[in-house]
Amino acid sequence: MPALLPPGTPAVPVTCLSKECWPAMREALAPQHRAYCAAVDFAPKAGRLVLLPGEDGTLARVLYGVGKGGGNGFGEPGGDRLIAGKLPGLLPPGNYRFDVEDAAFDPAEATLAWLLGSYRFTRYKTGRAGPALVAPDGVDAGEIVRIASAVAMGRDLVNTPANDLGPAEIEAATRDLAARHGAALAVTLGEDLAREFPLIHAVGAASPRAPRLIDLTWGAPDAPLVILVGKGVAFDTGGLDIKPSSGMLLMKKDMGGAAASLAAADMIMGAGLPIRLRLLIPAVENAVSGDAFRPGDVVRSRAGLSVEVGNTDAEGRLILADALALADAETPDLLIDFATLTGAARVALGPDLPAYFTEDDALADAVMRAGEAAMDPVWRMPLHAPYASLLDSKVADINNVSGGPFAGAITAALFLRRFAPKTKAHVHFDLYGWNPSSKPGRPEGGEVQTARLVYALLKGRYRG
Ligand code: BES
Ligand code: MN
Ligand code: ZN
Repeated sequence: MPALLPPGTPAVPVTCLSKECWPAMREALAPQHRAYCAAVDFAPKAGRLVLLPGEDGTLARVLYGVGKGGGNGFGEPGGDRLIAGKLPGLLPPGNYRFDVEDAAFDPAEATLAWLLGSYRFTRYKTGRAGPALVAPDGVDAGEIVRIASAVAMGRDLVNTPANDLGPAEIEAATRDLAARHGAALAVTLGEDLAREFPLIHAVGAASPRAPRLIDLTWGAPDAPLVILVGKGVAFDTGGLDIKPSSGMLLMKKDMGGAAASLAAADMIMGAGLPIRLRLLIPAVENAVSGDAFRPGDVVRSRAGLSVEVGNTDAEGRLILADALALADAETPDLLIDFATLTGAARVALGPDLPAYFTEDDALADAVMRAGEAAMDPVWRMPLHAPYASLLDSKVADINNVSGGPFAGAITAALFLRRFAPKTKAHVHFDLYGWNPSSKPGRPEGGEVQTARLVYALLKGRYRG
């Protein structure tokens, strides 16, 4: 789990250098260090490191190029505010501290980046112990460690393969989180699930690992109610509309929405935000068997709408629909769902930029700003109402897919909106939950997207 060394622990100083501050810094270096930097042709390019020895040959200091980082937005070409997240992978084992020389350098951001970049998935293969960082003066180390720990927990869940992470293990992870924060947990299974959440039951019916609705509640009953909903598909084969092998390979990550919602809940409860929190996770495995739901099936949803299953691979919106119907009936002040919902959103925005949808323009602006503040970027897509007719069904109130290839992320979002019609303050995140390759602070593999954003959003909305 992420940790920082206490302030004052002896450590090698790491100076993060922007291009702008390098010329003055170079002049201020000890002569042998200046000569060494010239000899190895060091320039403070983003991600470049030089290790400088002391007279006794031990490591005396580290210079690290951050390019246009440190205070620049991710919209800025060449600026990566998580650039310090590359350091744990570059430095030899040992203790380090940031040496602040540059006014633009933000020690809190760099510390978070370091911890996010220190993450390794060690359940099956242990790595060597990495370098450790001393908590900089004047930063809220507890808060940074809490955020990084929540992300690490979520990444572990995404990275854990489906043979070791089914609906029951998603429940166990939620139970563990509830116990850590004194939250209440209720789980609906079996015949109760079939009666109360028919779509969750239908999608999960093929698997011997029972589908369920996991329901966590925390906080003062009279505080504003915020409901988070996370798509918890432990594995998505596509069902009878089975995916080709290339499309199925990564589908252990189809609970990436649940992981994000759990990480956000961890941050919210850990900080004691003045809200009442409800976290709903429909957890299923979309499997293939004689009990599987079929293309053409019609299911009466919790909300009362009948749903025609045009495609069993559009399972995420089905299980979310029943959870959203429960959420809508509670009249939340804010409703947020997280889901690895469509390939179409990834075609539009790529792996690093989750799409979000909301009808509320002021809320949309707040989401965008929270994403920038939290270094957790997203991009808004439209709930274009005329496309709702693409989901018309001849036999039911709605089809779970449109017949054609267009606007797949939008029609999925419009489908979800039908099940929470009363709640205008509703944000839907369509995310990827995976880093295809390593970038600073974002190691290859499972990723928690939008949780830090949501935490920042709620801090702004409820703590002022
Ligand atoms: N879990 C997938 C979406 C997905 C696929 C996310 C690949 C990220 C990467 C979802 O359940 C799904 O299969 N969606 C289908 C919907 C289609 C059948 C309308 C898709 O996007 O192809
Ligand atoms: Mn699917
Ligand atoms: Zn899916």
